[in-house]
Amino acid sequence: MMLDWKKHGLFVCVLYMLLPLLCFCATFVPSDNYLIDCGSTTTTSVGNRNFSSDSFHKKLLSTQQEILASTSSKSVSDVGDESPLYQTARIFTGSSKYTFPINQKGRHWIRFYFFPFIYDRYNLNAAKFSVATQTFVLLSGFTAQKSPVMKEYSINVNTDTLVITFKPSDDSVAFVNAIEVVSVPDELIADEAPTLSPVSTFSGLGFQALETVWRVNMGGPVVTSGEDPLYRTWISDQKYLLESSLANDVSNLVGVDFADGGPTENIAPRSVYGTVAEMNTNTSGGDANLNFNVTWQFDTEPGFQYLVRTHFCDIVSKGLNTLYFNVYIDSLTVVKDLDLASKSSNVLSVPYYQDSVTPLADGNKLRVSIGPSPLSKDSPNAILNGLEILKMNNSIGSLSADAASGAGGTTSGSSSSKVGVIAGVSVGVVSVLVLAGVCCVLCRKKKRLARQRQSKTWIPLSVNDATSHTMGSKYSNGTTISAASNFEYRVPFAEVQEGTNNFDESWVIGVGGFGKVYKGELRDGRKVAVKRGNPRSQQGIAEFRTEIEMLSQFRHRHLVSLIGYCDENNEMILIYEYMEKGTLKGHLYGLGLPSLSWKERLDICIGSARGLHYLHTGYAKAVIHRDVKSANILLDENLMAKVADFGLSKTGPELDQTHVSTAVKGSFGYLDPEYFRRQQLTEKSDVYSFGVVLFEVLCARPVIDPSLPREMVNLAEWAMKYQKKGQLEQIIDTALQGKIKADSLRKFAETAEKCLADYGVDRPSMGDVLWNLEYALQLQEAVVQGDPEENSTNMIGELSPQVNNFNQDANVSSSASAVPFEASTVDDLSGVSMSRVFSQLVKSEGR
Ligand SMILES: *[C@@H]1O[C@H](CO)[C@@H](O)[C@H](O)[C@H]1NC(C)=O
Ligand SMILES: *[C@@H]1O[C@H](CO)[C@@H](O)[C@H](O)[C@H]1NC(C)=O
Ligand SMILES: *[C@@H]1O[C@H](CO)[C@@H](O)[C@H](O)[C@H]1NC(C)=O
Ligand SMILES: *[C@@H]1O[C@H](CO)[C@@H](O)[C@H](O)[C@H]1NC(C)=O
Repeated sequence: MMLDWKKHGLFVCVLYMLLPLLCFCATFVPSDNYLIDCGSTTTTSVGNRNFSSDSFHKKLLSTQQEILASTSSKSVSDVGDESPLYQTARIFTGSSKYTFPINQKGRHWIRFYFFPFIYDRYNLNAAKFSVATQTFVLLSGFTAQKSPVMKEYSINVNTDTLVITFKPSDDSVAFVNAIEVVSVPDELIADEAPTLSPVSTFSGLGFQALETVWRVNMGGPVVTSGEDPLYRTWISDQKYLLESSLANDVSNLVGVDFADGGPTENIAPRSVYGTVAEMNTNTSGGDANLNFNVTWQFDTEPGFQYLVRTHFCDIVSKGLNTLYFNVYIDSLTVVKDLDLASKSSNVLSVPYYQDSVTPLADGNKLRVSIGPSPLSKDSPNAILNGLEILKMNNSIGSLSADAASGAGGTTSGSSSSKVGVIAGVSVGVVSVLVLAGVCCVLCRKKKRLARQRQSKTWIPLSVNDATSHTMGSKYSNGTTISAASNFEYRVPFAEVQEGTNNFDESWVIGVGGFGKVYKGELRDGRKVAVKRGNPRSQQGIAEFRTEIEMLSQFRHRHLVSLIGYCDENNEMILIYEYMEKGTLKGHLYGLGLPSLSWKERLDICIGSARGLHYLHTGYAKAVIHRDVKSANILLDENLMAKVADFGLSKTGPELDQTHVSTAVKGSFGYLDPEYFRRQQLTEKSDVYSFGVVLFEVLCARPVIDPSLPREMVNLAEWAMKYQKKGQLEQIIDTALQGKIKADSLRKFAETAEKCLADYGVDRPSMGDVLWNLEYALQLQEAVVQGDPEENSTNMIGELSPQVNNFNQDANVSSSASAVPFEASTVDDLSGVSMSRVFSQLVKSEGR
């Protein structure tokens, strides 16, 4: 049945009005559906959806000041159903976050509504800010234009909460008018798509953060959110045609056949598939030799790849196998001689769509063209019904060009600092809030504890004396920061009991001051490590809480992840991912495990350096681990390193200098002498400890071994002595002797030496350490061109592109041995020997 809009206008009109009733019967019901009207005091209806005020969801929001702004501006009255959302906004003077518990992991829409207006003393037109989730930067250095704008993202959330952080740029404020966090049907984004150049396949699309930059209905009017089952808006294509006279619009809504097996209305609604732009075959005045392209042009940002989805539905052909056409993006061919009928078992007007991943854009325009194929000799034509252009996150997990410029950086300084900023945006505030939140809790314990108990937020165990905690107590200034932890994954005690065979002693895989670590299995079959705190340990409470706060807020492939916790019956139980191969320390000495090759050791050092680098720079304020040691570097079944044990972590140094107690903590033998002397904590203290780990890796012996002759007891001192004499090869692990290339050893040893500099300022940053270790690996693996004596600055320039790729796998090689994570039931030798003297300095291993 062919209907032409012009001829059957009225009929189609009526049908069109009925269609929403017809086609929304199999509506997708999102399991997460947060619709928040920010700064509003009432619920706002938008079409058939209700946006509730964020004042009703106090638990979701963590901000310092409550600033609810509103406007009566007329500019928001003509943007359709959504206009009421733009009438109110919430203003953030400091970093603030919304935390959404996630019912069902998977892809979610995140939509932000922005409209800047002047409220009180805040001119939102000048507001400049960043927005990030735990893993992705969505906006950075963003300033809203004068008109209302909606920004749409879709992100695969695989954590139990989605935390969205708004962070004002210096001296500015952040704001938002409304937020949506809504589940996306799984079918929407496949995991693979063809790439255009080189022609290949892009896998892992499922994990890309996507920003909708253009969503266009070809040959038809705007499709508003109310007409789309997933509340997407499709704009009209007219403005984007390079030569509008070349295109002809056709509309046939009822002709669209949503057949079984084809795309559903969740891919694109009938109002998109039912209108089409085709070649205007009437233009050339009867010229039979119709050979031209219809082209649309869109603004895009350079430095990103785009996922481009073209939608087709043949509502124009009179019969099968008459329409063959080509589709191009810029000068690249998306598909040649496309025969839609062949895609739908010879049924005309079944929808079809084609995804393509573009190469990294270097211009700021993207063109999509359709043109005839020589196969359709008689009636050349080409069609396009809809188009989506989705920006993909770059290699540093950002969708913002501001942040992107750091990725291609060629100089180490700028790239590392930018990376820091970017990563900082994503998690920065969180740590401050965490700290502040903890302090709040400590400070106003009674009242807050009572209140939070009602509000179901996680609360730590009973807190006794605030001064006994390392987190300090004076930070709270009466602002309205809510309890910090929104990590919801609480595991019932019964499940933990079951999963560890009721804390079977033979399942113990480690013992430390905090308590015992058991191997276990959750009901869903996941293998876990269960750390059960000793309930009598008061210090344990603070560390227990710190660890949950820290680990639930950030994720990195080189940081061990927390899976859940249990605080029922005064228990302090932390549940981690199970690290099959145990500690780095266990592989170096003491347990008789087969020794690691030099490359394996380098990979492990590089991986842990990445994890620490992320801790130091991934937040606005550095997070200092404070207990870096080989027993806290764990290895998975592929020997990939992950840094563990955040019980002592803290943010610093600013907060530290002013408010937080500086009681010296850490493990003897790894302790930064400067920190010890001046009690001043910086990330360079971690660098020092990491330097000790590097020597440990090289020499495969305990950092403190009192059974050795006096000058050998302390590994750091002993190794530095040999390093200064240039005789380090005399003391390296015998298993490595003759296996390390001289250049690689030299680079590695120099790096370790620099880490152990007496003063923090003389030590390299973790980023520099990382580069140098990468370089040591390159020197080991290949013949490196150029002067081997080149200094580290040159070298960093050379390596930065690759090092910038934060998520790059450390290229681990798997070990031939399959040694399980074995019990190390004896405390660190250093712990044993020093505990009498420095009991509070020592943290035993295995926790
Ligand atoms: C939205 O709110 C209105 C008024 O409170 C109510 O009648 C309606 O059922 C709500 N709609 C939805 C989808 O919840
Ligand atoms: C083609 O162009 C001619 C002259 O401009 C016009 O009269 C005719 O209606 C057009 N045909 C179609 C199908 O648009
Ligand atoms: C259509 O565009 C493609 C890609 O830019 C180009 O290769 C082709 O020659 C164009 N066809 C015509 C007829 O201009
Ligand atoms: C996007 O981010 C993910 C996770 O951070 C990363 O694995 C992926 O490679 C990034 N995409 C691109 C195109 O770099």
